[in-house]
Amino acid sequence: MRNCCRFFNSSIGLKITMALTGMLLCGFLLLHMLGNVIILFSPEAYNLYSFKLTSNKIFLYTAEVGLLGLAILHILVAIKLSLHNRRSRPERYQNKKNSGLSRRTWYSSNMIITGGIILYFIVTHLLDFRFGEEIMTVQNSVTIRDVAASVIGEFQEMGDVIFYVVAITLLMFHILHGLRSAFASLGLEYPRYEKSFNVLSKLFVFGVSAGFIVIPIWIYFVGV
Ligand code: HEM
Repeated sequence: MRNCCRFFNSSIGLKITMALTGMLLCGFLLLHMLGNVIILFSPEAYNLYSFKLTSNKIFLYTAEVGLLGLAILHILVAIKLSLHNRRSRPERYQNKKNSGLSRRTWYSSNMIITGGIILYFIVTHLLDFRFGEEIMTVQNSVTIRDVAASVIGEFQEMGDVIFYVVAITLLMFHILHGLRSAFASLGLEYPRYEKSFNVLSKLFVFGVSAGFIVIPIWIYFVGV
């Protein structure tokens, strides 16, 4: 127990926890994006997919509690790490400019801010889709939730489309830096593989973000 507390109080322990929770949340994002893209091909298939995913309540609640636990841990550790860094680097205010060799970017310096906006997005997103009004439909003689109708309804307003595009773009920058930090914290940054890692992580981040962003834009401008 004491070792466990010591781990969570050390800078490396916090960084490893941050890296692992962040990577697991990225896994959720990939699956969530792939599931949501189905709506562009067939709203009926999307409803069926959602029905299958949510009909096993034990699976659903376990996954939701796991996801919530990961998100809470990720946020708490982020706050703790940020306070930790602030205390151990008082000179940051004098040395804010990017140096030529530094990997510092506007988004790597503002992870707490992009994270806060993403959290705000997730709360409103859950209020709309997870806890919002449930529309029902009958498919193959079975009454199921018409999740497609909720999503299509949401993206009839330009303001909502812009909100999603902005939030997902910030999410993209957040993960772009997060993945790089995660690999460094886990000691997986080998100079030999740096180029391939950079290409793969960018492919992942841009692929997931593009998959999410295309949904509101397509529904608003083209329709499904
Ligand atoms: C166009 C993009 C998106 C669409 C259409 C979408 C759609 C949905 C829908 C319909 C649900 C409710 C599922 C249900 O109750 O059966 C949901 C849940 C959720 N979404 Fe999204 N989503 C999008 C993007 C995102 C993004 C970018 C994030 C994270 C930053 C996210 C995080 C979540 C979470 C955490 C849940 C709750 C999962 C659960 O309770 O099982 N979503 N989403």
